[in-house]
Amino acid sequence: MKIAISTGGGDAPGLNAVIRGAVLSAIHRGWECVGIRRGYGGLLGDDGIVPLGAAEVRGITHLGGTILGTSNRGDPFKFREPAPGGGGGGWIERDRSDEAVAAFRAHGLDAMIAIGGDGSLGIALRLMQKGIPVVGVPKTIDNDVGGTVATFGFDTAVATATDAIDKLHSTAESHERVMVVEVMGRHAGFIALNAGISGSADVILIPEIPFDIQTVCDKIRRREAEGRHFSIVVVAEGARPRGGAVSLIDPEHERLGGIADKVAHSIQQMTGKETRSLVLGHLQRGGSPTTFDRLLGLRFGTAAVRLIAEGRFGDMVALQPPIIAAVPLAQALAAPKRVPLDSDTITTARDLGISLGD
Ligand code: F6P
Repeated sequence: MKIAISTGGGDAPGLNAVIRGAVLSAIHRGWECVGIRRGYGGLLGDDGIVPLGAAEVRGITHLGGTILGTSNRGDPFKFREPAPGGGGGGWIERDRSDEAVAAFRAHGLDAMIAIGGDGSLGIALRLMQKGIPVVGVPKTIDNDVGGTVATFGFDTAVATATDAIDKLHSTAESHERVMVVEVMGRHAGFIALNAGISGSADVILIPEIPFDIQTVCDKIRRREAEGRHFSIVVVAEGARPRGGAVSLIDPEHERLGGIADKVAHSIQQMTGKETRSLVLGHLQRGGSPTTFDRLLGLRFGTAAVRLIAEGRFGDMVALQPPIIAAVPLAQALAAPKRVPLDSDTITTARDLGISLGD
């Protein structure tokens, strides 16, 4: 048995733990492993397939990033390349999926472990439909993949965001300012909610609850009246005002960003309070994974190899405590996860007096 591992889309702490878990458990079965570099892009390049043995995965559990590299541009169905003629003529997209399948076969591969979020797992499913036996592993700091209670990387991102919010408290209080901090969370507000509650934020704005800026300002004014001359607002990058749109810094590529700045500007205008904003951005994707993410990554990696051994192609490993379960990829992708509005965490926030902007 010769299996390939790919890591696609945005990186997340714990990717290397998954790779190590998969490689060591494959080796224990007497299988051979290779890595596909740069997401799926490595199937279409000269140096894109690298051997993965015990030596390659030694001492990587605690490392952020991915030893295989990743890309959000490696989709073989829409492969992006410079337009013919060069000289700044832009990009074109080409379907190179047949070449990717041919490369997979030419390398004598029997199965692929695709580690990714919604986008990369969707590509994996399409490659499966073209004949590549695939097993999925859910990854994203946003925690928005369906079918699993958690994706690895989320816990580390929440820890990073909470640490930042803790640090903002002292400066906000000293200067009697409002601080608005933007965290990641394109469609789901799990990072904002968990870090915001844990870091004692006063306002948390998430994509699932369109906010009213008046309500946000009322909360800040109430605190002011109570003698609390500072406030911390945590906003997910995908949050939007009621009746308004998400904030994009690059509409062509749908890159989100800038909502903290907009919210801060409105707060300063409407309350007269000095207000500053900051964006945590990719800091949340970096660094050493927490113990939870290391363990989850190792459990996912080894479970993915067990699924291959059982011939359960088209399935994805999933955390369904206390076990690592298998769910069909198609089912997981059909129902992406969002913060349930009736969840205990939302109720906790409200009971603590945190404003959710509604
Ligand atoms: O999906 C994870 C995520 O961190 C999103 O929250 C964010 O919108 C996106 O990745 C940004 O990705 P990149 O900057 O790599 O394009």
